[in-house]
Amino acid sequence: MRRAAITGVGKYLPDGILTNQDLEKMVDTNDEWITSRTGIKQRHILKDKDKATTFMATQATLKLIEKTNLDPKEIDLIITGTVTADMRFPDTSNQVAANVGASNAFGYDINAACSGFLYSLATASSFIQSGMYKKIVVIGADTMSSIVDYTNRATCIIFGDGAAAVLLEADEEGYGVHDQVLKGDGTGLQYLHLKLGGSLNEVTRENVDSADKYLFQDGRPVFKKAVTGMSSTMKEVMERNNLSKEDITWVVPHQANKRIINAVADQLDFPHERVMMVIENYGNTTSATIPLCLADYESQLRKGDNLIITAFGGGFTWGSIYLKWAYDGNA
Ligand code: UT7
Repeated sequence: MRRAAITGVGKYLPDGILTNQDLEKMVDTNDEWITSRTGIKQRHILKDKDKATTFMATQATLKLIEKTNLDPKEIDLIITGTVTADMRFPDTSNQVAANVGASNAFGYDINAACSGFLYSLATASSFIQSGMYKKIVVIGADTMSSIVDYTNRATCIIFGDGAAAVLLEADEEGYGVHDQVLKGDGTGLQYLHLKLGGSLNEVTRENVDSADKYLFQDGRPVFKKAVTGMSSTMKEVMERNNLSKEDITWVVPHQANKRIINAVADQLDFPHERVMMVIENYGNTTSATIPLCLADYESQLRKGDNLIITAFGGGFTWGSIYLKWAYDGNA
C-alpha cells in the first residue's frame, strides 16, 4: 500500500525575541502569570516590515530543500497552512514556489487556523496515496504579530511568528500517514475570529483603528473545546488502528497552551515526556507549531516511531493523524 511519508523537515524563526519581561512593560501582566497559565517564556517576532509569511515560508522551504538535497523542479505541489498570508491573494504557496525555484509545482493555502498544518498534511497525504503526485511540500507558517493587539493582555502574551516545512514522498514499506480523523464545527466562530478585512467587514475610514482588525479570542471556552477535541480524536484514531498508548512513541500536539497539552496527555494517561513541547520558546505560532515540533525533535526521532499529531483551532477545526516516522534523525 502506498502512503505519504515525511522525509525531511526545515524551519525558520525570525531573529526578534519578545520575552515575558518585555511584555511586562507593554501590558498589565507578569512573567509568573504567563509562565504558570501558558508555559510560554518568549516568542519570535518578525520585525522587518518588508517581510511577512511568504518570506518565512520560503526560508523554511529553502532549508528543507538544502537538508534533503531536493531538486526544487521535482516538487509537484506546495500546500501552506496559514491565516496570515501576505495578501488576500495571491496565496503563499504560489509565491513560495516562485521563490524556491519550484517551477513545475502548483500550490495553494489552507485556512484552518491552528489546524492549518494538520488539514494540509491530510490533504497532501491523500494526493500521494492516490498516486497523483510524488513530492509535496507542506508548510505551516504564520506571522501572528501582524494580527495581534499588543495592548490586549489576553491575546498578546500567547502568539508568536514562525514557519516550518516538511517533504512528503511516497512510501510502500509501511511508513508515513496511516490514518486521519478530521473534524470541524463552525458554531465556534464566536469564540475565535478576526472580523475586519474580510468581505463581510471591509476596512473603512471609520473602522480602520478599531480592535476588530486584530484577532479576538474568548480563551476559556476555546481551552475546554481544545482539550476534548484533541483527546477524543486521538482516542478515535488510536482505537481505529488498534494502538495502545504503549504503541505511541510521540504525541505531537498543537502548541497553544502548556496546560492544554498536559490536560490532553492526562486524558489519555500518556507520559508527558513523550509529548513534544516547544511552546516555551515560540509561543503559539498557529499553523507552524506542529512542524516546528517535528524540526526540534527530529534528532530524537527514529525510523518506525509511531506519532500521533493533533491540533485544535479557530472555526472550530480539529483532528488527529497517525503516522509512522520514516527515517532516523541525525543525533
Ligand atoms: O491556538 C488555538 C486555539 N487557542 C487556544 O487553544 C487557547 C485557549 N485558551 C487559553 O490558552 C487560555 O484561556 C488563555 C491563556 C488565553 C487564558 O488563560 P485562562 O487561565 O483561561 O485565563 P482567563 O482568561 O480565564 O483569565 C483569568 C484571570 C482573569 O482575571 P480575573 O477575572 O480572574 O480577575 C484575567 O483578567 O487572569 C486575568 N488575565 C491576566 N492576568 C495577567 C488574563 N490575561 C492575563 C495576563 N496577565 N496576560
